[in-house]
Amino acid sequence: MDKIIIEGQNSLSGSVPISGAKNAVLPIMAAALMGKGRATITRVPDLRDTRTMIRLMEIIGAVCEYENGTLTVDGSIVDNPEAPYELVKTMRASFYVLGPLLARFGEVRVSLPGGCAWGPRPVDFHLKGLEKLGAKITLENGYIIARSKRLQGSEIQFEFPSVGATGNIVMAAATAAGTTIIRNAAREPEIVQLCDYLNQMGSNISGQGTTTLIIKGVESLESADIAVIPDRIETGTFLTAGALLGEITLKDVYPHHLDSVLMKLKEAGCTIRTTADTITISPADSIQAVDITTAVYPGFPTDLQAQWIALMTLARGSSMVTDTVYHDRFSHIPELNRLGANIRVDQNTAFVRGVKNLVGAPVMSTDIRASASLIIGGLIAKGTTEVNRVYHIDRGYEQIEDKFSALGAKIWRESA
Ligand code: UD1
Repeated sequence: MDKIIIEGQNSLSGSVPISGAKNAVLPIMAAALMGKGRATITRVPDLRDTRTMIRLMEIIGAVCEYENGTLTVDGSIVDNPEAPYELVKTMRASFYVLGPLLARFGEVRVSLPGGCAWGPRPVDFHLKGLEKLGAKITLENGYIIARSKRLQGSEIQFEFPSVGATGNIVMAAATAAGTTIIRNAAREPEIVQLCDYLNQMGSNISGQGTTTLIIKGVESLESADIAVIPDRIETGTFLTAGALLGEITLKDVYPHHLDSVLMKLKEAGCTIRTTADTITISPADSIQAVDITTAVYPGFPTDLQAQWIALMTLARGSSMVTDTVYHDRFSHIPELNRLGANIRVDQNTAFVRGVKNLVGAPVMSTDIRASASLIIGGLIAKGTTEVNRVYHIDRGYEQIEDKFSALGAKIWRESA
């Protein structure tokens, strides 16, 4: 198993290109299964999760070619509407094929995802939404089986603006008979791009970026091409490192997707400069403790909570970090404490008391964003940190050690 070794406290400088967004490309790939022609998707990051999605699409019958960040998908002979347990258990986002395949075939089998390192993560909103559109749903041998002739437009009110459920229902409703209205829909930029992509394929969706989506069903969709938006979570991860380690510029980004994060970084004392597609961060003389509460977009993303805590470990004073999206997403805390951080968790809030120094140690990553926070921990700690189980980081970050090395960090990968 690979591990990442970091010799900490080296300053960073220079610029780094940001990759296409994992959470945008995965639903886009699922949507491409609804077109019966050839789709070209560019700025596709080379991640374990995108590779898993390609494998899944090939099992379903699509012909995929992936080279240099460009993925072509030929959906003309898609004939096996099934997502097997072996893939869904490694990547919950496989569940995104449920809506598109049900819409295209009238029947789909998708393994029910289990729990994950940060809680139960149910899929009830996806299933209730599809039932509202007329699907009959049963559970057999751990698989969700959804059946319907043509889905029927309906009104759906989500209890919580779930990203995945919004994506799944939008795709299913795109070719339903009549109009679907989704209230309390997710507003994340990745969902906006999914809606824009579906519209390019011929659907009629309006309201993206607001809490109400209106989907007027069309007969069928055509294949279309798209370039994936920049990854705002990768961007935020590099920003939290730059906040302590030196002035860096992130290229190929959409700064406005990170307004809430940039505001908090300024509050912590950093200087931020933006252009249309770059963000430059200059560290503060000393980082101030700043509280955050995660929320759905445009709030502070839960996917940057772990990295923010890593930053706060060296802040002046004490901060509170509350996660309202996932209440149990703190597996990085005991590991950061092994590096000498002073963090206590009570329910869904972490209380971080800033310390003078972290000191390197072997640590273990448990999920994608927890791994990113441990890498930041290693970069700011004195001495050597060894981050184990890095396959988690490879699920969501493209060449993270190469990108940090290019900025001046001493970080490398070792295969056991
Ligand atoms: C997506 C992102 C993930 C991010 C999360 C929140 C992808 C591939 N993943 O995950 O990185 O952390 O959004 O921004 O885009 N919930 C239910 N029932 C459901 C669905 C969700 O109770 O049927 C709850 C979840 O347990 C959680 C909250 O709703 O507490 C938000 O989950 P959701 O927005 O659905 O997250 P994902 O789409 O799984």
